Amino acid sequence: MRGAPLSRRDRIRAQLADLKMPGALESLDEILSGIDAGAVTAAEAIERVLGAQIALRNARRLEAAMRSSRLPAVKTLADFDFAFQPSLKREQIESLHELGFVERKENVVFLGPPGVGKSHLAISLAIAAAESGRRVYYGSLGELIRSLEDAQAAGKLVPRLKTLTYPSLLVVDEIGYLPISRTGAMLFFQLMSRRYERASTVLTSNKSFEEWGEIFGDEVMAAALIDRLLHHCHIVNVRGNSYRMRHHAGFARSAEPEGPRGLRPDSLGVRTEDQSL
Ligand SMILES: Nc1ncnc2c1ncn2[C@@H]1O[C@H](COP(=O)(O)OP(=O)(O)OP(=O)(O)O)[C@@H](O)[C@H]1O
Ligand SMILES: [Mg+2]
Repeated sequence: MRGAPLSRRDRIRAQLADLKMPGALESLDEILSGIDAGAVTAAEAIERVLGAQIALRNARRLEAAMRSSRLPAVKTLADFDFAFQPSLKREQIESLHELGFVERKENVVFLGPPGVGKSHLAISLAIAAAESGRRVYYGSLGELIRSLEDAQAAGKLVPRLKTLTYPSLLVVDEIGYLPISRTGAMLFFQLMSRRYERASTVLTSNKSFEEWGEIFGDEVMAAALIDRLLHHCHIVNVRGNSYRMRHHAGFARSAEPEGPRGLRPDSLGVRTEDQSL
């Protein structure tokens, strides 16, 4: 005995299940009801059904990335309060989040004092990249160097360097806070040389490039590192007050029009492709 023919709604449900589109399937009834009530046009409905599936796919990608990338938190561009950080040009930060720089294998460096949002923006770029299906990895400079040192001690440096060269976007956070050994600096240099023109790196530092020689314990190597880094690079100077201190009256200092001393790329005598960011 044959059952009653499926309604169009049921056929769409079956098609979405067949195509493995659970996000779209879940949104379907509400959207179709919207059409029936005259509140949603056909084009809007298609956009919303597909949008629901894309949102689910991105959430799954992000979940997977949070497990594998060592990102410390979910920080997104939507959570970033531009009104608090007027030194940043919103459209430039938004344009970076479109990820053309990842396609072009360019780097991004966020420079600025503590609490101004450097890590937040570096992480939000990594999250945007993860949601777009790219492989990302996060570490503070200290963590990355420690993992390279451990690998070297275990005779596994080359595979570790390969693993860290593979992600389309690597975040190197907190350059300048902790001292690093000479061997550690050399290992990091090797990593950055491998990634040069192969994949994008997003770095954050509280120190001007002029001070990187001190951080890495070797002026010549730091200069060679900066040279590779800045060849295709967007430099974002973040000025202003620490967001962490926003509720502490008296800690707020007025944003310096020229930025903290030495944090201007032009103070390096180094040419960059895009100093406007
Ligand atoms: N403009 C902002 N809007 C919303 N949250 C912000 C903003 N700036 C910073 N934060 C939040 O404030 C905290 C400190 O910011 P973040 O960790 O990015 O600072 P940082 O520049 O990396 O500082 P540090 O040099 O000390 O590492 C984080 O929780 C971050 O999400
Ligand atoms: Mg930080």
